[in-house]
Order: sequence, then C-alpha cells, then structure tokens
Amino acid sequence: MDNNTMQKIISLSKRRGFIFPSSEIYGGIEGFWDYGPLGSLLKNNIKKLWLENFVQKRKDIVLIDGSVIMNTKVWQASGHLSAGFADELVECKKCKKRFRFDHMEELKGKEFEKNWRKCPECGEIIKEIPRKFNLMLKTFVGAIEDDASRAYLRPETAQSMFTNFKNVLNSSRMKLPFGIAQIGKSFRNEINTGNFIFRSREFEIAEIEYFTNPKDDEKFFDLWFKEWNDFILKLGVKKGNLREKEHKKEDLAHYSKRTTDIEYNFPFGWSELAGVANRTDFDLKQHSEFSGESLKYLEEEGGKEFFPYVIEPTIGIDRLFLTILADAYSEISGGRAGEKSNTKQEAEVVLKLHKKLAPITVAVLPLVKNKKEITKKSEQVYDLLRNYFVVQYDETGSIGRRYRRQDEIGTPYCVTIDFDTLEDDTVTVRDRDTMKQEERVKISELPEKIQKYLND
Ligand code: GAP
Repeated sequence: MDNNTMQKIISLSKRRGFIFPSSEIYGGIEGFWDYGPLGSLLKNNIKKLWLENFVQKRKDIVLIDGSVIMNTKVWQASGHLSAGFADELVECKKCKKRFRFDHMEELKGKEFEKNWRKCPECGEIIKEIPRKFNLMLKTFVGAIEDDASRAYLRPETAQSMFTNFKNVLNSSRMKLPFGIAQIGKSFRNEINTGNFIFRSREFEIAEIEYFTNPKDDEKFFDLWFKEWNDFILKLGVKKGNLREKEHKKEDLAHYSKRTTDIEYNFPFGWSELAGVANRTDFDLKQHSEFSGESLKYLEEEGGKEFFPYVIEPTIGIDRLFLTILADAYSEISGGRAGEKSNTKQEAEVVLKLHKKLAPITVAVLPLVKNKKEITKKSEQVYDLLRNYFVVQYDETGSIGRRYRRQDEIGTPYCVTIDFDTLEDDTVTVRDRDTMKQEERVKISELPEKIQKYLND
C-alpha cells in the first residue's frame, strides 16, 4: 500500500460520511476529526465487539467509565506532569514550524553536530537544543482562572482504573487476578499530528488494567499479548499486516518494566496500533503515597497485604478504525464480472469489512422505482428489517449501480424486491463478497436468515 491508497481512503471517508475534518466550514482544526453517519456506526460496532469480547464474555473483567478531568494530584502521582510525559521539541527559526525531535532523521556527515536536524518543511538546518514539551491539554475548572483552578484533560484512561481500584474491589468483590476495562476519550497536545486519524489530539483508547499477583506478571503479559493480537485478527485484519515490536529498555515509558507493541502495515508504513505493558505496581504505589489511601490488596487466605502488579493491554480505537478501513479497502480493476453497472469499466471499490463491523448490515433495494406495488413492498421489508439490523433503503439509479454503492461502504447483504416478490413474497439476498444470490428467501424468514448469515 502507498500514499495514493491513503488519499483514496481519506476521500472515500469524506464522500461516504465516515470521517470529516472537525469544524471544516471554519477551515478545520489540526488534530481533531468528526465521525459522520457511517463512521459513527462503524466505530460503535468496533467498541461493541471489544466490550463483548473483553467484558461480557469474561468473568474476571468489569467495566468502568471514568471522568475526563480528574484531580490534578492524579497527574502528579502518575508522572504525567513531569518529564515522563513530554516529547522533545525543536523549532525551525526560518519557517517557525515546530517538530518532534525523535521523529527527525539524524544528519550524516562530520560537519553536522549530534542534535542538528534538517527542517522537513523548508530544509533549513535546525541547530537548537531540543526542549521538553508536556503533552497534557490544560483547562480551568470553575469561575476563576488561576493556578489553583488549572486542570488537565486525561491523556490516557488508565488512571481512573487505578484510583478506583479499592472502589471496584469493595463494590464488586473481585479477586486477583482480575481486570478493569474502559473505553474513553483521551487528549494529547501532540506537537505534530498527521496521517489522517492516526495521530490526533483527541482520540479514544480502549484499555484494561489487569491486576495480578507480582509472581504471575510474566505469565499474564504473554497471555494478554496473545488475547490482544487474537482480537485484532478476529476483526478480520490480515495476519501478514501485523507484527510485534518489543520496546528497547531506553525507550520504555516511565511506568513500564516491559512493553511490546502490535504494529500494523499502514499505507504510510509500519506503525504502532496497540501495545501491552507491564506497569508493575508503579501506579498503585504512587497513588497510595500521594493520596495517603492504601491501595494494597488483602489476600483472603493468609491475610497478606501487597501491591498487585498490573498488565495493561491498550489500543487506540481511532487507529483500529483506520486499520480496519485500510485492511478492508480493495479495488477491482475493470469492474466485477457478472453485474452490468459499470459501462466505463472503472475500478470498483469494495470494503471487505467484517460483517459485524459493517455500518449498514442490509440494503433494501426495489428492482424498479416506478412500480408502486414494488416500492410499497420494499418499504414493508425495510420496516421489518429495521427492527433487527441497521438498514438502508435505496431506490436511486440502476440496480447494478446501487450494488456498487453498497459494496463501497461494505454492506454485506443487499435484499432486492422484484416482480416475483409480488407473486410469492420472496426476495433475493445478494452477498457482498461472492455477489451470489443463492436462493429466494421468504420475507417472513428474512431476519432469521440474515442473522444466521452474520453468525456464520
Ligand atoms: N495507558 C497506556 C497508553 O496510553 P499509549 O501507547 O500512549 O499507552 C495507547 O496509548 C494507544 O492509544 C496507542 O497504542 C495508540 O493506538 C493510541 N494513541 C496514542 N496516541 C495517539 C494519538 N495521538 N492519536 C490517536 N491514537 C493515539
């Protein structure tokens, strides 16, 4: 894949209502995006499958939904207000643009000093010493704007799962090993955003803090890495487009003993999609020290008190969204055989999304729109199916063109109401991937049949 593919994905996202630049009519705002009608449905389906997999199906994980703004002491304890959560920044004196130092290439040649870099924008040699830039987004809480009312938007969801450790234990009687899960908005004042929704300033994280006896940390690290990877594969992402990358000791976050990323082969190259970290007892210890509340775990048998270790699998929902779009995007040059719709024989786009992720599950298409009995019947089918699935009704253009429109947004099933329907109350169901219409299905049996196809 290449940059051209990325441009096609961005343009498809805008044209079909997956993603729009935020505040576009005012020229946008860098690093912020809006999910459109189809994008919101797809994103919701991703989160639904994540919750089903990691909360609903598991006995050892509970869900919370913490606030975005927390007491500022949380960020002192977690280390986010110190150098631990800062990137190195340099500014080009000529074009005034700012860049993340660690994303710039070292200059080769004796004439260059170690920290000199070439400005990616204007080519000037930047000679300044990089300075630390904290990534926390700030705001004020209450009517007075001073140091005391300064607050921060969370840069990760993890911290409310640590600060609520005792609340969860007391209210839900969980025993080690167990996890707290959360999906939520996070904010980082990134120096450079880019690659569409890959690096933005507002994004969603889905993560689990899995508390375990310290002696089992390695075992659960390996188990969670497998769980995380398996989940991404379960969403239909191709195995060959994923690889693992262990962080070097010197690159580890301030809280981590070990971190391994799952990288995806994005159109712009291999980059981090998800990760698993061993946060040890760093966070629970820090919060105990800073708050004065002990966050130790009391073992029932033996009465031993200790700080559990934490294994943290994490994934950015927006990056997963981009991964799913990029992985599902396919073009069939010269058009698909068998369905006459494409007289110019242009390349046809098919989003081969996992059927449960597709924003629209079924499209209802009357064969013709100028025969009242057919459109009336089609509306009845539309009304019936909407009780069970997200359905789109489309009567504009030739039937082939309408199939193409549904393929482009990944709709797995198209139900067509034709002249035979008026005789025997049956319809055809076309499958996106095979383009086949296996058998005629009775309208009354449609919901059950489509559910069965989805489960298969
Ligand atoms: N609690 C651990 C944590 O926050 P992280 O690797 O900094 O770890 C978690 O972030 C995930 O959030 C990443 O794996 C990535 O998918 C996503 N992510 C991080 N920064 C992002 C950004 N600026 N824009 C979009 N997604 C981002």
